[in-house]
Amino acid sequence: MTTVTTLTTAPALDGKSPAVYHEAVLIEHIVKKRQTQTQTQTQTQIRTQPPDQPSSATQRALLVHGAQQPYALVTDHAIPSILHKDEILIKVTVIGLNPVDWKGPAYNFGLPRLPWVNGRDLAGVVVQASEPDTDTARPRLRKGDLVLVPSTDYRDIRKAAFQEYAVATHFNAARIPPTSSVHAAASAGVAFVAATLALGVSFGLDFGTVSGCPGPNLPDILRTVDVNTIPPDVRDECFASREEIERPKPGDWIAIWGASTTTGLIATQLAHNAGLRTICVADIARHGARLHAAGADILVDRHDTARAVQIIRGVTGGKLRFALDIVGSQTAAFLQEALDTRVAGNGSHAHAHLLGLTGLPDDRDRDGRIIYHTVPIKLFHSSPEVGGAMVTWLERLMESGTLQLPEVIRAEGGLGGINAALEMLRRGEASGKRIVVSLH
Ligand SMILES: NC(=O)c1ccc[n+]([C@@H]2O[C@H](COP(=O)([O-])OP(=O)(O)OC[C@H]3O[C@@H](n4cnc5c(N)ncnc54)[C@H](OP(=O)(O)O)[C@@H]3O)[C@@H](O)[C@H]2O)c1
Repeated sequence: MTTVTTLTTAPALDGKSPAVYHEAVLIEHIVKKRQTQTQTQTQTQIRTQPPDQPSSATQRALLVHGAQQPYALVTDHAIPSILHKDEILIKVTVIGLNPVDWKGPAYNFGLPRLPWVNGRDLAGVVVQASEPDTDTARPRLRKGDLVLVPSTDYRDIRKAAFQEYAVATHFNAARIPPTSSVHAAASAGVAFVAATLALGVSFGLDFGTVSGCPGPNLPDILRTVDVNTIPPDVRDECFASREEIERPKPGDWIAIWGASTTTGLIATQLAHNAGLRTICVADIARHGARLHAAGADILVDRHDTARAVQIIRGVTGGKLRFALDIVGSQTAAFLQEALDTRVAGNGSHAHAHLLGLTGLPDDRDRDGRIIYHTVPIKLFHSSPEVGGAMVTWLERLMESGTLQLPEVIRAEGGLGGINAALEMLRRGEASGKRIVVSLH
């Protein structure tokens, strides 16, 4: 096995001529789209000469060999194989970096075996897809489509992003419209999935009310799903909001602590567009303008936490029922203080709800009148009904411009530059932006 430990120089913070580059990506995308249309017309040719079909059985990939070790670049990792008809093979063109990409190896979690391939967000071109079962059935995705994939199924090494070719299912891949930047699209997937499942499943928000681009009512979809197909450890969470009275209604308040995170920015947009009133806690000097543009109704600076809680209570008149924390257990505890705990005891059945994406208060510090949630992330890849509804909505959100994608920083060096880019992320130098890496 050829192994090169990657010790690259720090990537540039501001990509070279980003506007020019953006244009180049759009042109490339439009050319690809035209190629796809031509390919659709010449099916025989596709079967004999698929676009970008791997020419060898091996590829370059980044391996993690152990906790606290840098990723190592190898050149002879097997190209993953498709195992069933729902799967597609993607030639990866852009990788989006997530905090878990450095936290996993640093704190030794999310590594099912060693060595392992990591990476949760990618964009690329479909190079292999099943033919439809009948002549009339049209597959949702075809060879040549440019897609983004939130790779939440991290236990399946074939689906990891840190490699040149990755497998996905068609219900976990969203086509990137020609009007969207491929780099921005590559950075948004996992954050979109986390925000959508937190709001739409754990809280039960109906996205059918999203102005300009109505989305799925996920609790309704879940009612049609065979419960036994949902992984047992997330089953309770998936049906947490089955009672109508518990679900958020337009005009209700939601507080988001860590709103400047990529997940927070997307959650703010979705909640605002669905008619909720949003309170965003973040560094307002740095991120206030962006959050305001995303639909924040109230901006609260994060630096004085006691004052932040007072402001939330004051603004909502003590009637906050929904709180989403995207920072950690300590800030989740602050949000807990801001929630209205009187509601459960006043004759109605509606509770206050607190979801922690990175942690919740310790059991002994919890309030029995609040319902606590964690995001059922694996629902996205285990339920074709839910995953499919989410990716087709994401396609429409991007195409209609309803969802603003994150700003990105383009790190240099391809796979070999990822260690240095993750170090930048760990040091907090990507504040308010997503780091992406191009492979070609
Ligand atoms: N459970 C899951 O399945 C799941 C899924 C997705 C994400 N997550 C977790 O959610 C968190 C956010 O992920 P992301 O990818 O959206 O993050 P990200 O985009 O990398 O977020 C970085 C931002 O966090 C902000 N931040 C740091 N400390 C803060 C604090 N004390 N209070 C408020 N804001 C703070 C920073 O703002 P400043 O500029 O002010 O420093 C920075 O802009 C991560 O911990 C991630 O692991 C979990």
